[in-house]
Amino acid sequence: MRHERRDIDIITHYNKLIDDENDPFRDSQPLKEYMDKWDGPLFIDSMNLTFAKKVLEIGVGTGRIAAKAAPFCLQLTGIDISPNTIRRASENLSCFKNIELICADFSDYIFEETFDVIYSSLTLIHFENKQNFICKVSELLNENGIFCLSIDKSQNDSIDMGNYKLKIYPDKLDDIAEYIHSANMYISKQFDTEFAHIIISTNR
Ligand SMILES: C[S@@+](CC[C@H](N)C(=O)[O-])C[C@H]1O[C@@H](n2cnc3c(N)ncnc32)[C@H](O)[C@@H]1O
Repeated sequence: MRHERRDIDIITHYNKLIDDENDPFRDSQPLKEYMDKWDGPLFIDSMNLTFAKKVLEIGVGTGRIAAKAAPFCLQLTGIDISPNTIRRASENLSCFKNIELICADFSDYIFEETFDVIYSSLTLIHFENKQNFICKVSELLNENGIFCLSIDKSQNDSIDMGNYKLKIYPDKLDDIAEYIHSANMYISKQFDTEFAHIIISTNR
């Protein structure tokens, strides 16, 4: 007998990962090094962090990258749509007094401030309307601000969890470059890690 995998939504998927103790922040060292293949030290370096900068992470997850950026900036805001994930991030990051966490959908959350650095890794695949995502980043970026984006090279259109699957929207490098230009930003640097394309851009 053939069993169809049921579709699941983003919030249920990420809430469930936490229920199942799947937390990249608490991974063993070899698994942490594996996750670095989507971003890693070069991605952090590209942010040009200083103790004067206000930073936003879109899709902060459980704080894997935020923990590496927060010690080098003034203030870090992390937004994530999954309540369980944000709860876990607040435990994982409790030693950082300069981190604020927001549980909301980035697409419709109204921010009361702008940022010097905005970064996001492994998250744009969840957004169907990528142009809107990038236009919103452009609006939230201060003059001379930096946007660091990691996009997965994989072109899968779902995350297959065996008994269920989550629909995702694969990122194509050329399309993302086009969206960045349409948002009146320019790409200052682009490089690859093993699993991702990294795009660094800034407002014109
Ligand atoms: C694959 S995880 C990456 C987490 C983190 N960036 C990392 O690399 O460890 C993607 C995260 O994006 C969040 N996310 C997905 N769609 C979102 C949205 N519309 N607004 C805010 N967060 C979202 C998910 O809840 C999840 O925690």
